[in-house]
Amino acid sequence: MIKGDKKGSASADSKENEGKPLITIFFGSQSGTAQTFAYELAEEAKSQGFNGKAVDLEGYENEELANEKFVVFLMATFGEGEPTDNAVQFYEWITSNDRQPNTLPSTTYSVFALGNRQYEHFCAIGHKTDKRMEDLGGKRLLEIGEGDDDGSLDDDYSAWKSKFWEATHAHFGTTATAQVVKAFAPSFTLAWAGSADSKAADDENEDPNANRTGMYCAGAAATTKFISYKLLCCWYDVQNTNCKLIQNTNRRIALNV
Ligand SMILES: Cc1cc2nc3c(=O)[nH]c(=O)nc-3n(C[C@H](O)[C@H](O)[C@H](O)COP(=O)(O)O)c2cc1C
Repeated sequence: MIKGDKKGSASADSKENEGKPLITIFFGSQSGTAQTFAYELAEEAKSQGFNGKAVDLEGYENEELANEKFVVFLMATFGEGEPTDNAVQFYEWITSNDRQPNTLPSTTYSVFALGNRQYEHFCAIGHKTDKRMEDLGGKRLLEIGEGDDDGSLDDDYSAWKSKFWEATHAHFGTTATAQVVKAFAPSFTLAWAGSADSKAADDENEDPNANRTGMYCAGAAATTKFISYKLLCCWYDVQNTNCKLIQNTNRRIALNV
């Protein structure tokens, strides 16, 4: 997964959001779907009159969860019923017996689980997160949603989202607006900063942990060499100008660099 702004989307705390209820959207994502959903949901939240903030679970200060009032978890399952890499430390924290039953007395939460029915432990991490949030005193906003990547994940997610917005407006006593979501316009530049041994491979079977340290988000494209690269999420905080692309992804883009 691409490393992004761990504190959430860039504009989440801007003046325009002052005084609006905050919806914190956590994502546990390996190949980018939940991450993309999270950033889209944050934009939708803004169009619905809230302050939406997408937050990578990796690097999140878990103890802060008790201070969150309204959270969403978009949780993919990987391995054989395991958390995604970016969610491991959060998952260990929330499932630890050290957590007391009344850890989250003022947190309202909802979960959408991403998975694939071909796997034995379908959506296991979403379900475990949902259960643990309840165990720790969180208030469930609505029933967990399940998205099946082997079937109709996008439809599953849309159906859950409709219910989510209905429940969210009921919770805050607000009124739904027609969902005019600003179209996402990817706008990053990538500059080739590597030597021959760090070039990105155009190979489906490449090692996802292969060294790509030569590739950075930065201000300028330079040469004319054509490469292709898999991106897990076409969403990136371009203001963070020194970010490494570190993992294999499920979306491919071609870059002229
Ligand atoms: C190697 C691998 C292991 C997976 N393991 C599971 C699993 O145990 N249970 C499940 O429900 N889905 C599993 N999935 C499906 C993913 O959860 C699903 O594709 C999800 O949409 C990925 O979301 P992401 O792109 O945000 O990581 C697995 C997918 C892959 C590629």
